[in-house]
Amino acid sequence: MIIKNICCIGAGYVGGPTMAVIALKCPEINILVVDNDVEKIKNWNGPLNNLPVYEPGLSEIVKKVRGRNLFFSNDIKSAIEKSEMIFMAVNTPTKTKGEGAGMAADLKYVEACANDIARYSKNDKIVIEKSTLPVKTAEKIKDILDKKNSRVHFEILSNPEFLAEGTAIKDLFKSDRVLIGGDDSPAGKNAIKALSQIYERWIPREKILTTNVWSSELSKLASNAMLAQRISSINSLSALCEKTGADIDEISLAIGMDHRIGPHFLKASVAFGGSCFQKDILNLVYLCQFYGLHEVAEYWHQVVKINDYQKNRFAQNIIQYFGGDLRGKKILILGWAFKANTNDSRESASIYVTQKIYEAGANIDIYDPQVPKENILHDINIKWGYTLDEVKKRIYIKKESLSTDKYDAYVILTEYEDFKTLEVDPNKVFDGRNIFDNALYSIGKSQ
Ligand code: NAD
Ligand code: UGA
Repeated sequence: MIIKNICCIGAGYVGGPTMAVIALKCPEINILVVDNDVEKIKNWNGPLNNLPVYEPGLSEIVKKVRGRNLFFSNDIKSAIEKSEMIFMAVNTPTKTKGEGAGMAADLKYVEACANDIARYSKNDKIVIEKSTLPVKTAEKIKDILDKKNSRVHFEILSNPEFLAEGTAIKDLFKSDRVLIGGDDSPAGKNAIKALSQIYERWIPREKILTTNVWSSELSKLASNAMLAQRISSINSLSALCEKTGADIDEISLAIGMDHRIGPHFLKASVAFGGSCFQKDILNLVYLCQFYGLHEVAEYWHQVVKINDYQKNRFAQNIIQYFGGDLRGKKILILGWAFKANTNDSRESASIYVTQKIYEAGANIDIYDPQVPKENILHDINIKWGYTLDEVKKRIYIKKESLSTDKYDAYVILTEYEDFKTLEVDPNKVFDGRNIFDNALYSIGKSQ
């Protein structure tokens, strides 16, 4: 099957960069990225220095392919009609109400996509789950598609995305693996082949792994759970280090030099953030509970609980350093994003830690090189529940990182290299991103 037109529903952190790379590598395929967010599409079509997603290398690719074979629009109907292959890259946040609230993935956006695909399809389609989904979601999608449109054949594939923010382009260019889950039927095999041929343009064939749909869906949740589990494991040990005088960096090094364990994802920190680890683990916990596997559910739930514990412990260390009262103290928060080189602050530890410091009475300046001021204010408003008028007397968003201002404490919450060149009293630095070799005062060691 020759693919000439691809549609991607969802122009976010996954849809935008992923489709830009496919467009670059497959110049003969037209890629139509659609979204129901009008402002977002306007920005994808606007100046390259103001794209909705900041990722190193992304704007250079968009510059080459936008208007050539990559198009952003709100016209979902016509993109679906035209395309032989449709990616669903919409958000799958934790449910906030109804059954499974606080744990299960909210599939309403995926279901809305399936409804649109059913409504507008006039010929056979390959429908690809790019979003991270609970195992067995393909069954639900197929059900919606077949019930609402029996005139065409829909073949569902699972093709989860493993990119990390801040390194998305690098990860897409050199993926450790591309996972494609599909049916064993002739139509399923053809669909797998069509998708595989796209990736084969730049990914070595031995790195393209094909499995059944359920293994593919669950591998994505399991991968994120395993990565987050390593962070919670090392963070839990950081608490024991502080009681005993052992050094968590030395422990990480010693553990990671065992080739069976490996060095990655063993950096103690204020906590993992980001839109996915927490929601995906909670989703896994929910699935285990659903299938009556309560011990398994509890095992994975601990990964999130330790993450919350670590965030709170870090904030309390700062508050206790000042004897519990931060009134009249001036604090600089360095980093609002959940990691470096992204403008994404979803579930960032910075939001939580800064709130605790604010509530202890401090005057706070915040600096982040990529997160726009309005996003920081939006997070404060939505996540803290304070009006902007309430906080403006004690919160100031800085445009430059380190001026000559003097602070009572410097709190590093995003792992930017620049933050390690702070020429300030090291006794005043609270390093929540324990990656700097010159950081004397990492988590809990400041007293
Ligand atoms: P996002 O919020 O950045 O983007 C999702 C987009 O989908 C939004 O722009 C939204 O407007 C749009 N959308 C939602 N419903 C729609 C509909 N019915 N029609 C048209 N557009 C619609 O989300 P994201 O970070 O790109 O994540 C998308 C999925 O990929 C999630 O399931 C996530 O778990 C997974 N994932 C994310 C990352 C990451 O680094 N962010 C990495 C791997 C996997
Ligand atoms: C993560 C996974 O790494 C991706 O493979 C996956 O595709 C993605 O989630 C997803 O499904 O959304 P991401 O959250 O973008 O990617 O970034 P990571 O590099 O995994 O970092 C997540 C958080 O963990 C950050 O807050 C980071 O600072 C923290 N972290 C990471 C640590 O605290 N210690 C470490 O050793 C590594």
